[in-house]
Amino acid sequence: MAHIYGEPSRTFNEYLLVPNLTKKDFIPGNVSLKTPIVRYRDGEKSPLEINIPVASAIMQSVSDSKMAIALARSGGISFIYASQPIEQQAEMVIKAKKYKAGFVVSDSNLKPNQTLKDVLELKARSGHSTVAITNDGSSTGKLLGIVTSRDYRLSRSPLDKKIEEFMTPFSSLIYGKEGMSLSEANDMIWDHKLNCFPIINNQGNLVYLVFRKDYDAHKENPDELLDQNKRLMVGAGINTRDFKERVPALVDAGVDILCIDSSDGYSEWQRETVQWIKQEYNGTVKVGAGNVVDEEGFLYLAESGADFVKVGIGGGSICITREQKGIGRGQATSVIEVAKARDQYFKQTGIYVPICSDGGIVHDYHMILALALGANFIMLGRYFARFDESPTRKLKVGTTFVKEYWGEGSNRARNWERYDNGGEQRLEFEEGVDSYVPYAGKLKDNLDTTISKIKSTMCNCGAVTVDELQRVARITLVSSTSIIEGGAHDVILKENSSVLK
Ligand code: IMP
Repeated sequence: MAHIYGEPSRTFNEYLLVPNLTKKDFIPGNVSLKTPIVRYRDGEKSPLEINIPVASAIMQSVSDSKMAIALARSGGISFIYASQPIEQQAEMVIKAKKYKAGFVVSDSNLKPNQTLKDVLELKARSGHSTVAITNDGSSTGKLLGIVTSRDYRLSRSPLDKKIEEFMTPFSSLIYGKEGMSLSEANDMIWDHKLNCFPIINNQGNLVYLVFRKDYDAHKENPDELLDQNKRLMVGAGINTRDFKERVPALVDAGVDILCIDSSDGYSEWQRETVQWIKQEYNGTVKVGAGNVVDEEGFLYLAESGADFVKVGIGGGSICITREQKGIGRGQATSVIEVAKARDQYFKQTGIYVPICSDGGIVHDYHMILALALGANFIMLGRYFARFDESPTRKLKVGTTFVKEYWGEGSNRARNWERYDNGGEQRLEFEEGVDSYVPYAGKLKDNLDTTISKIKSTMCNCGAVTVDELQRVARITLVSSTSIIEGGAHDVILKENSSVLK
């Protein structure tokens, strides 16, 4: 007979934290959110730790190089999506690794024989008002001029006016040479009252733009996640089909960590992929595997050599796997069981394999619960999709701004490798939806607030590290009636009240 679990599986919504004594030195300023993300032996330190316990999801609509840069600057890590050609994914890794604070690779570029109409269209699409004019319209072409809104007057200039007739030409530009430091570039900006300062190489090709408005952002970020060469750290997704070509390209590009992207990680394909990577690179290339939801799945991947194990099936906001296939498990229960298995495995072998809770985070407090229940870090899709730095379009629907967000198993992404069960190389049915999420602004502003909440709650729980939180947290199940008690209730909320307007 089939195994029937005696207890229902549960979601984060069903739990709450009970405070412990807050000592006077349990203040947010003393909390460290550093957390290990790859396996290590008892008594040693994990070779890879992140400074805040969050990763962005391996999804087309979430993690490209722009997201990777923004998140690493705040201390977390992105896994650049795998459902794209190998060269393109490697290019994104290179772009993130090359990033230098304050030096922007221009993403709005045109050719001199294009028109004012092209400028306006590009500006509407990108939201940027500075357009670099290069011989081939690329971000690294020969710099021929710059166009900003000061170069044209919409009421006077015809839309078909050629850019070369109104751009600020190269001969009138003040520019710097590659190799210049950020403070030298900023001095030029201040001395010459510039808004934008292009940097070119010896061949006259555009390399970077430095903007006055970014001046404050250039200041050091204490949580920035850097490698030994002071470059930002970046991860990338892989699949169990083309790993023998994809992994070498990503490693050459400088990737810091890989993760197999699959909806069901308890498979021989995953073991084969992990073992090939470990053998090929003598254990130096780090790779996570998943997703699993129980002890058996965790042990299988840990014994296969996975550096971390990702937990969660069916809980993602865009996920319809449970409806389509009846497979999955409540996210909180999955984390609890896998965390127990990790601790048991550590006791028995002296090897600690970190776990990542992936999907289903709706409120910030769910992140704290995931950590308290045992996750070493958390992967988020919907959360990051809402920010300026996600790769998708920002649109206005009705009166609100939204961003697009679609699942890897939707017809839009067609990431059949993620749902691969052998057989034909195609997505046979959808396991994800195409959706909108409310636009929320800059990553840093939002993440700073979330991190403040996590730190503050940790202080309430009497913990100043994630590890301590997992040891001392007291967690209670809540009844469905007490969930109602948890929100604002029995009052008339001002923002929804027409009476008060
Ligand atoms: P979210 O943070 O709740 O939006 O969940 C993001 C997670 O959902 C990802 O990290 C993936 O594990 C998972 N996911 C991504 N695309 C799909 C899909 O199309 N179907 C099911 N799960 C998905």
